[in-house]
Amino acid sequence: SKQPNLFKADVTAAPTETEFVAGKKTTVWAYNGSVPGSLIEVNEGDTVEIRFINKLSQPTTIHWHGLPIPPEQDGNPMDPVLPGTEHSYRFTLPEGSAGTYWYHPHPHEYTAEQVYKGLAAPFIVRAKDDPLKNIPERNLMISDLKLNSDATIANNDGNDWMNGREGQFVLVNGQYQPVVEVKGTERWRIWNATSARYLNLSLGGRKFTLVGTDGGLLEKPVRDLQVLLLAPAERAEIIVDATGQEGNASLVAEPYNRGKMGHVAAEKSINIAAVSLLAGQSIAIPDTLRKIDDLGEAKATKKMVFSEAMSMANGQHSMLFLINGKSFDMHRVDFTSRIHETELWEITNKSDMDHPFHIHGTQFQVVETELNGIRTPAPYKAWKDTVNARPGETVRIKIRQDFPGLRMLHCHILEHEVQGMMAIQLVE
Ligand code: C2O
Ligand code: CU
Ligand code: CU
Repeated sequence: SKQPNLFKADVTAAPTETEFVAGKKTTVWAYNGSVPGSLIEVNEGDTVEIRFINKLSQPTTIHWHGLPIPPEQDGNPMDPVLPGTEHSYRFTLPEGSAGTYWYHPHPHEYTAEQVYKGLAAPFIVRAKDDPLKNIPERNLMISDLKLNSDATIANNDGNDWMNGREGQFVLVNGQYQPVVEVKGTERWRIWNATSARYLNLSLGGRKFTLVGTDGGLLEKPVRDLQVLLLAPAERAEIIVDATGQEGNASLVAEPYNRGKMGHVAAEKSINIAAVSLLAGQSIAIPDTLRKIDDLGEAKATKKMVFSEAMSMANGQHSMLFLINGKSFDMHRVDFTSRIHETELWEITNKSDMDHPFHIHGTQFQVVETELNGIRTPAPYKAWKDTVNARPGETVRIKIRQDFPGLRMLHCHILEHEVQGMMAIQLVE
């Protein structure tokens, strides 16, 4: 048997001073000193060993969003790394796991705050044999930043806690409105690393091709797209071919109505980056990218209902965000599943707002969605770890877990996760 390759790196989380606004200081929380944090790039089959050093004033963890790794290595809230201490994470990435992932904190109660202060970073797993390997790549990790007028990071207000936080500065790789120059064909990996902002992305009418989702390549490219919705935590790989559509364009977040509550401004489009498209070498995309195995017949079913309720505590109204009527309890198992067994899950959103469902440790397949009695089969086979559910919608997925232990599942609007829209799956 061949020796697995060992990839070793140190990651330090620490407060870091930046000058985001000229002449003013912003203290972010950063992995290895930058926002987003340093890219980890490994190959399928690699064993990864990360020595993590927590120089923050709060407990934290590193969660490896989307990766198929054992729960005890996955930065669960039950496994905090205390301030001033360090911890090593170690896991091996299986064949077939090539894809676009990320890492971020997942401590009990502080996930939203630590992510909005800057802790998030890309993680790429490369395939042994990548059918698109001759196409130049570009990474676009999109986040947002909410600053006070003195350029300090703003606290969450009541609206942020209700609708999820959206910062006034939408950033690409930590930069505000950068210029992107595309010559010929490029493969873009895009991350929605915001807490709550839905990115309904377009290139202002230019066409692009979708080739990958959260867990890597699709079976076949989906060509001639003009918009692509990425809910918080979702990723995509697209091919942009500038040849034939040269000129100046923008990467735009088009308006998307996600049912925000209260008095909120109408959604408007935002230019995230200036994109200049230049003719160059055009590289064809093969008609078949890979084979995605079917998860087979489901042996069990589970139902999860997302809902919201009002609570009155200490004379104050506040929102509750619930799964099956319950608020998160770290010491309660909510669902029990058998290892290696495919299940059919029905995720129903009974609230008035969109919620992106996410589960740790595995990639699932969307079977169909149902809205107002109309069932729509998934348009293509894809590996996903995050899927949006609109108000009134039911999303059916096939899912299998291949490690024993405890898994978190939650809404990836991080303020909702903190406020209870999270549950625990025990795999045994
Ligand atoms: Cu990126 Cu539990 O999440
Ligand atoms: Cu995750
Ligand atoms: Cu939510």
